[in-house]
Amino acid sequence: MEGLLIDSKVHDESRQGEAYAIDNTAQYKKYFYIESYGCAMNFADTEVVASILQTNGFGATKNAEEAELIFINTCSIREKAEQTVRKRLTEFKSLKKQRPGLVIGVLGCMAERLKDKFLEEEKLVDIVVGPDAYRTLPALIEEAEGGQKAVNVLLSREETYADISPVRLNSNGINAFVSIMRGCNNMCAFCVVPFTRGRERSRDANSIVKECEELFNTDYKEVTLLGQNVDSYYWADEQKGETVTFAMLMERVALISPLLRVRFSTSHPKDITDEVLFTMAKYENICNYIHLPVQSGSSRVLQMMNRTYTREWYIAKVNRIKELLPDCGLSTDMITGFCTETEEEHRESLSLMEYCKYDLAYMYFYSERPGTLAARRYKDDIPEEVKKRRLQEMVALHRTHSLLSMQKEVGKTFKVLVEGISKKSEEHLYGRNDQNKVIVFPKENYQPGEYVYVKVNSCTAGTLIGEAIVN
Ligand code: SAM
Ligand code: SF4
Ligand code: F3S
Repeated sequence: MEGLLIDSKVHDESRQGEAYAIDNTAQYKKYFYIESYGCAMNFADTEVVASILQTNGFGATKNAEEAELIFINTCSIREKAEQTVRKRLTEFKSLKKQRPGLVIGVLGCMAERLKDKFLEEEKLVDIVVGPDAYRTLPALIEEAEGGQKAVNVLLSREETYADISPVRLNSNGINAFVSIMRGCNNMCAFCVVPFTRGRERSRDANSIVKECEELFNTDYKEVTLLGQNVDSYYWADEQKGETVTFAMLMERVALISPLLRVRFSTSHPKDITDEVLFTMAKYENICNYIHLPVQSGSSRVLQMMNRTYTREWYIAKVNRIKELLPDCGLSTDMITGFCTETEEEHRESLSLMEYCKYDLAYMYFYSERPGTLAARRYKDDIPEEVKKRRLQEMVALHRTHSLLSMQKEVGKTFKVLVEGISKKSEEHLYGRNDQNKVIVFPKENYQPGEYVYVKVNSCTAGTLIGEAIVN
């Protein structure tokens, strides 16, 4: 068991190589096949890559067999994520044996660290492109087609792809991800992201608002504003002579229409402000849901992790959220078995979870990443079986909380944004409420994209079950 993900719409690291297709009626010079791994931000990047490729005459196909170019957008966050990508690359290498003209490219977070291995030692791929170099992809494809190894892993302090209108891939036409910033300036000791994605930079607020407006005008009903640390969003609007904070940006997006729901991810406990919470409270269409990763319940471990807050600080933040937004859904990320973590400190993580009773938790055992602060400074000294046992205890505890979190909604009525037909029954629709909980209810004449009031009659650990009511 590597980690546990329970329902993962917004903060989704479970993407396991989805394949995408775009407008196949147009004439393209070549077809590409692309798979995306890792977090929502990586998925949003894949949509940027598809846009760059489409503009340069390449069309996406869902069938790797008919593609002339194959790309994998990769994730480095844990060793397991890298292993999955490696396995996939080996499969593609055998495809290349049958079709020597095939060009294979690695994109994203594994690019910088493994470029030499992939290109030279293992000869797995022809192209390696880092997350800030996607604009050079068409030129790199040409190089690779000419038989050269093509690589660009340069990180940038400016690139935000602000002007690129992402091609929506495998979209339900209702929810869309919108990147508002890139990189990360925090140096959490366990984390590889600052190394794979570089310095934090915020995207032009006007381009974000414009993208959200365009989405709404093409019938999208929900946008999720994405960044590794959205609360440190900061952009100087020279035209208006003001600096835009995350709360101001969120307000501008919320004002597009009350029918456009706004979500965001991820908040860092040290940076989330009252201003953000007040803005959430002010607008009905900003969803009452906060993903607030804590990582550990022990102040000593948090300090070693360089999270820059203590257990007490975190609890105070959670209390403040509950005070200002009493119905707010809350989720977290947790790591078990970080360097030197004792049994007592592990129990502190459990007791913090007991206190917060998260609606959703993403739990992982610690996986040392080369080059990170922790890898350089600390010994990865907790045996794997201990890390996994602690993770299992945590998962078991969280199950009781997630069930409680669902049970407490039985009897209540929620405004649900319908997202599609239920996987289990053609006769049922599914959607989510404000707090990000999935609700299934009989279809009647309702359609995806509509807001429907649903009364909850029962639940499972992951789903609320109800019926539409006329409000
Ligand atoms: N920026 C977000 C934040 O500050 O919490 C999260 C970024 S990371 C993509 C998502 C989660 O992966 C982290 O919150 C952490 O729980 C987990 N993670 C990151 N590095 C890890 C590692 N080396 N081992 C295990 N889990 C890790
Ligand atoms: Fe990684 Fe920390 Fe940045 Fe999140 S805030 S991406 S955990 S360094
Ligand atoms: Fe995301 Fe994985 Fe990179 S979680 S930022 S794709 S390392």
